[in-house]
Amino acid sequence: QKRLGILTSGGDCPGLNTVIRAVVSHGILTYDWKVLGIPYATKGLLERKTIPLSLHSFDLRGIDPLLNMGGTILGSINKGDTLNQIDELICGYRDLELDALIGIGGDGSLAILNKLQIIGNWQFIAIPKTIDNDVALTDRVVGFDTAVNTIVDSLNRLTFTAASHDRVMIVEVMGRSAGHLALCAGIAGGADVILIPEIPYSIKGICKHLAELRDKWERRFAIIVVAEGAKVADDSSLYKSCQTPNCGMAQYIADEIHHCSNNKLDIRVSVLGHIQRGGIPTALDRLVATAFGKAAVDLIAAGESGKMAAWRDGQVKAVALDDVLSQSPLHVAKNHYLVETASALGIYIGNGR
Ligand code: F6P
Repeated sequence: QKRLGILTSGGDCPGLNTVIRAVVSHGILTYDWKVLGIPYATKGLLERKTIPLSLHSFDLRGIDPLLNMGGTILGSINKGDTLNQIDELICGYRDLELDALIGIGGDGSLAILNKLQIIGNWQFIAIPKTIDNDVALTDRVVGFDTAVNTIVDSLNRLTFTAASHDRVMIVEVMGRSAGHLALCAGIAGGADVILIPEIPYSIKGICKHLAELRDKWERRFAIIVVAEGAKVADDSSLYKSCQTPNCGMAQYIADEIHHCSNNKLDIRVSVLGHIQRGGIPTALDRLVATAFGKAAVDLIAAGESGKMAAWRDGQVKAVALDDVLSQSPLHVAKNHYLVETASALGIYIGNGR
């Protein structure tokens, strides 16, 4: 009986348990494999620990909570924590007598797992997950859609309170180096300003845009969505009271635009933080997670290795993990159609202006 290991690595996101559920169901029902969860990713390999996963083992009154429960029942660790123990990790895989491994991770964790599978000669298939959406060669990753919806829900709420008090709401979202989350949620949530790491913004540009909204369009409130890693164009700061990272990107912008409006703007800051990583996966994330889990099991059965399940042209396909990693993290291109869409709708999106 084949022993299939499965682990979740890097920051959690909604949909990880849905992948685990699909792998367990398909692996057992179709192939009669033994499926073993590795707790805390590579840490579990080092400690030679496994969690036996069987059909319906987590059911409560017949309900399978893995379908829609956020987080990961296997636990996870962040990249880099165990990398200096490569030999020990490879022995861990051998000692657990694994025949194959499925790893669910973002670009950082998948790079580590790819290195291990090459050196250790493991049979390994990857599944992409990240709320940052910055894994290349796939149109969808597990977790992104739920995070976008969580932010949009917050923007819906903030819009009403902002409009009631004629306020500028600055909403900081995750995304240290890629702005997909801010861009998609900003457009879907009706932001007036979207600031992403790939396109530097200028304080003057934001102030000018806010003045225009008020004077030309009689908009008395505004919503600014800023990615945590957004970059201000050189020499753009006017006030310089509080520099990032000490006070955070949203607070920095708040101080700057307060100054450039001669202290007239009424501004509030919301940092959404890890709220974006939690919650019940959306239907789309559940579909993507389930399709990826099924595909990964079939790839293992077909003897494939070093591949990632990817969503391309409306289908799940296998792509070479080396190719994915050489193009990740995937940034928002300056001419991305959603950047053009935002500009076309009169949203300020930077470019140093
Ligand atoms: O990589 C996903 C991500 O959500 C980033 O956008 C964010 O900067 C980071 O994780 C936060 O990670 P941690 O859980 O270590 O605070």
